[in-house]
Amino acid sequence: MPRTTGTYRNSTVTGETVRAFVPAALPPAGPSLRVEGPIDAACARAMAAIGKLEVAASLVPSTEWFLYGFVRKEAVLTSQIEGTEATLRDVLEFEATDHATHEDDVAEVCNYVEALTYARRELAKPKGLPLSARLLCEAHRRLMRDAGTRRGGNKKPGVIRTSQNWVGGTRPGNARFVPPPADTVPGLLANLDRWIHGRDPLPPLVKAGLAHVQFETIHPFLDGNGRIGRLLITLLLEHWGVMRSPILYLSHSVKRHQREYYDRLSAVRTDGDWEGWTQFYLACVEEAAEDGVAVARRIFALTGKDRGRLMSHAAATVAAIHLLDLLPSNPIVTVPRAAKLLGTTAPTARKAVEVLERIGVLRETSGKQRDRVYAYQAYLQALTADEGRG
Ligand SMILES: Nc1ncnc2c1ncn2[C@@H]1O[C@H](COP(=O)(O)OP(=O)(O)O)[C@@H](O)[C@H]1O
Ligand SMILES: [Mg+2]
Repeated sequence: MPRTTGTYRNSTVTGETVRAFVPAALPPAGPSLRVEGPIDAACARAMAAIGKLEVAASLVPSTEWFLYGFVRKEAVLTSQIEGTEATLRDVLEFEATDHATHEDDVAEVCNYVEALTYARRELAKPKGLPLSARLLCEAHRRLMRDAGTRRGGNKKPGVIRTSQNWVGGTRPGNARFVPPPADTVPGLLANLDRWIHGRDPLPPLVKAGLAHVQFETIHPFLDGNGRIGRLLITLLLEHWGVMRSPILYLSHSVKRHQREYYDRLSAVRTDGDWEGWTQFYLACVEEAAEDGVAVARRIFALTGKDRGRLMSHAAATVAAIHLLDLLPSNPIVTVPRAAKLLGTTAPTARKAVEVLERIGVLRETSGKQRDRVYAYQAYLQALTADEGRG
C-alpha cells in the first residue's frame, strides 16, 4: 500500500552524511488505519485477555500482590530487551537485603520501577504533569540515573538529544535506521503529545501501540528509548482506562518476538505497514495477558494452599499469618525486614519467620548463621514459571 510515512533529510554525523527519517505526524494516513477484519478480531481477543487478567488479579485480597511482582517482571524483561542480565531474583534479593549480584544491571531495573512509580504518581496528582514528552523526560531522568557513570559515556538523563543518533550498526553509515535530525525532535514530540490528547477515535489499546512506534521512530534520547517507549504503552493503558493498574508485563512477549518486534517497527517506516505492526502488537498484548493470567492463577492456588496449611498448624501465630499475607509483595525477607513489615519486635518477627520456615513456606537461602535471608521459593517459582516459554 503506497503510504508516505515520512520524509528523508540528509544529516551529518561523525563526518558521514546519512539519510535521517522524519516521520509524518500520527495518525497513519493515506489510507488511514482501519480497525476491521483481522485487526478488529485481534483487538477483541487482546481486550478479552486483558479482561481475564484483571479478573484473575482481583481474586486475591489486594491487587498489590500482583502489582509488586508483575511490575518487577516488566522491569526485568524490558531491561533484558536492552541487554541487561539481572534476573527477577537478583532484583528481589537486592530489595530485601541491599546486596546485589549484577549490581549495575539490578540498579537499572530498579530505576525502571522508580520511573514507572514516579510517572504514575504524577498522573494521579491533580496538578501533576500530564502524559507528555515532559513527563517522559522526567521518567527518563530516573531511568538513566547513574547510567552514564556505570556504562561509560554520558547518556544525558532526562535530556532530549541535541545530536544525530542511529539504531543498529556500528556507525551511522551501516545503521538499520537513522532517526530524525535533532532539530526536528521537539516538534515531533509536540505533535505526538497533541495526538495523544486529541480525539482520534481509534480504540485506546491500538492507539497506545501507534504511540509506541512513533516514539521509537523519533528516538528522542541518546539511550533508553526502548524502555521509555514501552513505559509509554503501560502508562497509556492505565491512563485511558484499558487497565486499572499496570499488571500487564508486555515486554515478556515482546522479548520472545524481539526480532519480529524490530522488523515490524522498521516496516512501518519503510513500507507504511501500520496494519502489520498493529496485528503484531495486539497479539503480543494477548499473549502477555494470557501469561499473566496463568501466573496469577498459580499464585492464587499456592497462597490459598499455604494459608490453609498455616492455619491448621499448631504453631501458627497472628504474626506468622500476617507475614504470610505480606510475602507476595515481599517474597524475600530477613528478620529485621519482617519486623519492620509487621511492626513488631525482632523476636516476634523471628518467631513468625521460623513458623513459616517450619511449614515449608520460607526457605533460608544465604547458608549463613547471621544475616539470614528467607525466600518464599514456591511463590518465586510461580512468578517466573512462564520464563522458559520460548
Ligand atoms: N528498526 C527500528 N526502528 C525503530 N525503532 C527501533 C528499531 N529497532 C529497535 N528499535 C527500538 O529501539 C530500542 C533500543 O533503543 P535504546 O535507546 O537503546 O533503548 P533501550 O536502551 O531502552 O533499549 C528498541 O528496544 C526498540 O524499541
Ligand atoms: Mg540502549
